[in-house]
Amino acid sequence: MKVTIIGAGNVGSSCASLLAQKDIVRKIILLDVREKFSEGKSLDISQMLPLVRSNTQVIGITNDYSKSKNSEIVVITCGIPRKPGMSRDDLVQINAEIIRSVTKESIFFSPKAKFIIVSNPLDVMAYVSYITAKVDSTRVIGMAGILDSTRYRYFLSKKLKLSPYDIQSLLLGGHGDTMVPLYRYTSISGIPIQEFISEEENNVIIEKTKKGGEEVVNLLGTSAWMAPGASVVQMVEAILKDSKRIFSCSSFLKGEYDLRNIYLGVPVILGKSGIEKIIELQLNEKEKYLLTQSANHIKRMIDKIN
Ligand code: NAI
Ligand code: 2OP
Repeated sequence: MKVTIIGAGNVGSSCASLLAQKDIVRKIILLDVREKFSEGKSLDISQMLPLVRSNTQVIGITNDYSKSKNSEIVVITCGIPRKPGMSRDDLVQINAEIIRSVTKESIFFSPKAKFIIVSNPLDVMAYVSYITAKVDSTRVIGMAGILDSTRYRYFLSKKLKLSPYDIQSLLLGGHGDTMVPLYRYTSISGIPIQEFISEEENNVIIEKTKKGGEEVVNLLGTSAWMAPGASVVQMVEAILKDSKRIFSCSSFLKGEYDLRNIYLGVPVILGKSGIEKIIELQLNEKEKYLLTQSANHIKRMIDKIN
C-alpha cells in the first residue's frame, strides 16, 4: 500500500510521522516543492522508525509526481497556513491555485486514488480538488470534523474531569467558526451529555472549540499540526482497513440536507472506496438554520473563486 502526502510542512510531516509509526502502509511518499525539504523530513522520520518497530518506508521527493504513481491515497496538505490576525478564509485565492495544480499532477499518476484534503479554507479547497480531479465525489474528502471533534472532546473532558476517550461527539458544517454542534448527539460512554452538563454550559465549550485553532495560531505564530496530522491518519486508516468508521468529513452534497454543489462537514461511513455513505440526520429547526448559515458562508467563498 502506498500513500502520498503532498506538502512536507508542519501538517504533512506530522501526518507522515504518525502514519509511519502505525506500520500499516508499505510506502509513504512525502512530496514538497521546497528543494531537499521533504528529503530531510523523511530521513528524520525514517531514523525514528526502528525505535517504534515500523517497516514503513518514508521517501522524500522534491516535486516529482511520477514517484507518487499508483498511490491508494493522496493527502493534500500543501499551501499557506494562517498567521496571527488571519482567518482561514484569507488563504482562499493563493491556496486554490496550489490545490488545482497539485490535484492535476496527482490524479494523472494515481487515477484510482482517494484524496484527503487538508489545506484551508478546507471546505472550499475540497471543492476545488473535486472539480479539478473530475472523479466521483466519494473519492475526494475533506478533513476537519475529526479535528474539531477531538478539540471539543479535549475541552469537554477538562471541564468534566473525565477521560476524553469516552466522549462521543458529532459536529457538522464548515471547519471552525461556522461549525454546527450537535448537543443532542453527544454522549459519554453511552450516557447522554444532558446528564453531565447543560446546553448553556456546553455552548461555552463549543465557543472555545471554534477558537481552538486560533488559540494555537496566537501561541505559535502558525497553525496547529499535531492534532490535524492525527486526524488525517484516522481517515487514512479507516480507508485502508475498510473499517466503515463513521466520522464527520467535508463531503460533496447532492441534495443531502437540502444542499447541493457544495462541500460541507456531514457524518459519513469511510471504507475502502472512500465515502461509502452520507448519513442524513433529522435535524431540528435550530440545527438546520445553523447548517444553512454555514453553507452560505462556504458558498460565498466558492463563488469568489469561480
Ligand atoms: P506549512 O507552511 O508548514 O507547510 C506547507 C507546505 O506546503 C510547505 O512545506 C510548502 O513548501 C508546501 N507547498 C507549497 N506549495 C506547494 C506546491 N505547489 N506543491 C507542493 N508543496 C507545496 O503549513 P502547514 O501548517 O503544514 O499547513 C498546511 C495547510 O493545511 C494550510 O493551508 C493550513 O491552513 C491547513 N490546515 C488545515 C487543517 C484542517 O483542519 N483542515 C488543520 C491544520 C492546517
Ligand atoms: C486549525 O483548525 C488551521 O484549520 C487549522 O488548526
